[in-house]
Amino acid sequence: MSATFEFPGFRLPGAPTFTGALGTSMFYGALPTPTPVLDLAMVFGSRLWGHDLPLDGDALGAAPGVGDLYGHELRDKACAALCVRVAQELHDDVTDWRSLVLHTGSEAVETAIKTALRATGRDGMVAFEGGYHGTFGLALAVTHGAQFRDPFWRQIPTTTTWAPWGVVPAMTNEVACVVVEPWQGRAGVIPPPSWFLSLLREECDRVGALLIFDAVLCGAGRTGATIAEAIADARPDIVCLGKAIGSGIVASAVVSRAEVAAAAWDRGAVEPAHTSTSIGDPLASAGILHSIGALQSRGAELEAAGAAWQALLEPIAEAAGMQLRGTGLLWALDTGTPGGGMQLAKRLLDEHRVLVVPSGLDGSSITLYPAATCSDLELERVAEALPRALG
Ligand SMILES: Cc1ncc(COP(=O)(O)O)c(C=O)c1O
Repeated sequence: MSATFEFPGFRLPGAPTFTGALGTSMFYGALPTPTPVLDLAMVFGSRLWGHDLPLDGDALGAAPGVGDLYGHELRDKACAALCVRVAQELHDDVTDWRSLVLHTGSEAVETAIKTALRATGRDGMVAFEGGYHGTFGLALAVTHGAQFRDPFWRQIPTTTTWAPWGVVPAMTNEVACVVVEPWQGRAGVIPPPSWFLSLLREECDRVGALLIFDAVLCGAGRTGATIAEAIADARPDIVCLGKAIGSGIVASAVVSRAEVAAAAWDRGAVEPAHTSTSIGDPLASAGILHSIGALQSRGAELEAAGAAWQALLEPIAEAAGMQLRGTGLLWALDTGTPGGGMQLAKRLLDEHRVLVVPSGLDGSSITLYPAATCSDLELERVAEALPRALG
């Protein structure tokens, strides 16, 4: 079936239509001889453990509850696991945290912002140039890219103040929350200056604003065996998770300080002010439980895989005279030429059957989101393909 039924503009021209996925590969073309592609895109980093999804009998047969009216076991376990993991990384008491299981990253950011607005009774937001937090609702209010904002500028709230990435702005007591990516992901994997996130914490404390970490892209093990990079230094009030938190099952989560969640939502009202049909979905809950379990039991594997990719990529970038940015299983290679990332991604796919994502604000980079389960042979394949594609 061709793509003519899809909305226009949602697909790369000439890109193959994938027909299957297994382990670290995707396949396109007809059976019995589909073409395998080594997948270093992994659904924009969502499938940290490869394409084999944790869909066992427990997940498929789980009671779904009824939204937020009637709970269910798997959701309660996932929420508890999220709170335990965050509390562990912060050396906090687990009862200090509350969590919510959702589906997309945008939903998580939107819910976190609503939580902050209601908990503080303020309406200001601070966000950073180059930041990406999703394109829905209030997530769009803190996403910087003009291509996402301009068509809807009349509808987007005007209470966001923008600061350059890495700069801690002087804030007023009208600010409800600061929304920050611990690593700017979509902008091309840009690290924070070492002092940035902890100084943001201090500025938030000075004016009584809440600090929201958007770890949708860089969290849940993608940048090391933590739920969110730098969480211990900056002690965020709310953490948004997505992508890798579902281990390939579509899932996101908001983990919030208990007193913040209570101030926002505990009003004793019969009808909640914010909900959704699939809140606490059992499949999403199963994915989250799998991810948190893997963070606990396979942390060493994550660290080793990250070190192997670093050892592979550093000499290639150096030989090519290109900037390499990243950590763990999240890396960007910058061609230094606007649009160069798209050309490089196309060469890697067409000539070497390696799938990466073009990235960067000017399209100069490629981002690699390898699965933690790539074999030595697959790493060798990339070590051969990448220098040739860079050419
Ligand atoms: C940091 C960050 N936040 C939020 C989102 C939005 O997530 P979703 O596309 O699942 O809505 C993304 C997506 O790339 C992201 O990178």
